[in-house]
Amino acid sequence: MRAEPLGTLRRTHTCNQLRPEDVGQEVVLMGWVHRRRDLGGLIFLDLRDRYGITQCVLSPTDAPEAFAKAEKVRSEFVLAVQGKVGQRPENTQNANLDTGSIELVVDKLLVLNPARPLPMPVAEDVQNMDESVRLQYRYLDLRRPQMTRHLQLRHRMAKAVRDHLDSQNFLEVETPILVSSTPEGARDYLVPSRVHAGKFYALPQSPQLFKQLLMVAGQDRYFQIARCFRDEDLRADRQPEFTQIDMEMSFVGQEDVFALVEGLVHHMWSTVMNVDVPVPFRRMPYHEAADRYGSDKPDLRFGLDFHLVTDSVTGCGFAPFEGTCVKAFSVPGKAGVSRKEQDEWVTFARSAGLGGLFFASFADGGVKSSLSKSLDEEKLRALLRQTGGQDGDLLVLAAHADRKLLNTALGRLRLEMGKKYSLIDKSKYEFLWVVDFPLFSWNEDEKRLEAEHHPFTSCHPEDLDLLDSEPASARAAAYDLVLNGNEVASGSIRIHQRDMQEKVLGCIGLSIDDARAKFGFLLDAFEYGAPPHGGLALGFDRLIAICAGQESIREIIPFPKNASAADLMTTAPVTVSQDQLDILSLQIQKKAAGPAS
Ligand code: AMO
Repeated sequence: MRAEPLGTLRRTHTCNQLRPEDVGQEVVLMGWVHRRRDLGGLIFLDLRDRYGITQCVLSPTDAPEAFAKAEKVRSEFVLAVQGKVGQRPENTQNANLDTGSIELVVDKLLVLNPARPLPMPVAEDVQNMDESVRLQYRYLDLRRPQMTRHLQLRHRMAKAVRDHLDSQNFLEVETPILVSSTPEGARDYLVPSRVHAGKFYALPQSPQLFKQLLMVAGQDRYFQIARCFRDEDLRADRQPEFTQIDMEMSFVGQEDVFALVEGLVHHMWSTVMNVDVPVPFRRMPYHEAADRYGSDKPDLRFGLDFHLVTDSVTGCGFAPFEGTCVKAFSVPGKAGVSRKEQDEWVTFARSAGLGGLFFASFADGGVKSSLSKSLDEEKLRALLRQTGGQDGDLLVLAAHADRKLLNTALGRLRLEMGKKYSLIDKSKYEFLWVVDFPLFSWNEDEKRLEAEHHPFTSCHPEDLDLLDSEPASARAAAYDLVLNGNEVASGSIRIHQRDMQEKVLGCIGLSIDDARAKFGFLLDAFEYGAPPHGGLALGFDRLIAICAGQESIREIIPFPKNASAADLMTTAPVTVSQDQLDILSLQIQKKAAGPAS
């Protein structure tokens, strides 16, 4: 079928605009054929644009030319239709559509562009559609009303951010994309320089150093909705390029950053989601999060928090509990869990590195437990009370000499049980500040300390002495914001003095010379009047995914990469010509194995 020219015809309305009060009006709509139905001599076309859907009806007697074209029209053809708005009979109205009580009685139809049969459905929300097809034909995928809603949500959230931060005196400043490395713990994406043969730019893992330099530049309050690039293993909540709401403030402490972010989040949620998020957010030291929830990003929408019961069970005669760390938690209302199901949890726990799991079921005033030989009913009840449990609950115990391993394994078990037993209230937004992170962590492979957050984070003011004596025990003035078990932001109060910055870089194994070679510009800047400053960056994609109820951030990024960092639509990354390589003074040496992880 041939495309017809648009000519001078223009839309008078969008496909979501016409209402009963427009009945009788002559209008023009343009859009895509969402669905086509041939019913008893009449053809019905649902015409769709970004705004919505309008039903159009064509009759062979009233508009024979348009009808003849409509007979050939298929899904996703692009049409212009002209006609009169008609009232739909009561019994054919569609309450699910904003335009559901009217229809357009078409007298002229232009096929602006036909479409081939589609590689994926646009009109139907097919569950578990092949993601690779969706990514290859992203322009079709984005036509789906759900994806349009995601783009709109993203836009409105970005606008809310700009409005609020503007009202708080923040300046939006762009920072460069071709930079020298900004360390955030991932691998850099490198861009070869043509002019400086053999030299490379890095794409920024974040604007960290630039935002700090903007504070030295006296700009006081900075933000940017910034694109960041990290070459790391991808997961549902990680993309190689992603977006941060990046912020920095001068003359502040942790409390000021918290108050600002709480205000921002409150504004975003109230204006866009119509949800009144309670502020201030809860806070929890890192160690408590690890000990009670087995995670530095606990999901607080449900309980199942762990209690250390080592002292209560020591000496009970049960070998797995002797000389180890024992933790317990209770699962509400799950006393009736079958033996088979308990065994499945044991298998899960083993896969997480534990030797086993032990249970006690409390129902109808009695206790059933494989531990009964070692712990009498009174002792088991005391344990149940210790975990805050009651009759009807299932008490779960686990032991391991390595407390960290025990915490992590129980953390995984907790999340799995939360999901399996539907303990998670999906309507909730549970924000939490995790504070008092360690400043450093031990890198076993390289046998050295590394920055837990990034090396520009200042030490907790109470732990400054530890930097010389016991740096591994020092806490950082760093914080994460957690939402429903996801790390949605991270930040810190920064170092703003040269000697302290050199000391911390030294702790992670950088010699003074290396530190000066890599970060000389920052160290110098700290000597020209650097104000105390701090800030944070929110993971914009993660926030939007949570608001959209999506597991994967790929759902809310317009053009994401797949799990192996490829763009299936443009096919990037691609090979380049020998000429291009020559200009860049590059030579490709193929690795024997497949793509690097
Ligand atoms: P951080 O590296 O913790 O901190 O990043 C801040 C937030 O960005 C999100 N995030 C990601 N989202 C999607 N894909 C990724 N690959 C990805 N990596 C991180 C997370 C995270 O909490 N410069 C510091 C911030 C600061 O100190 O101010 C930084 O980038 O939600």
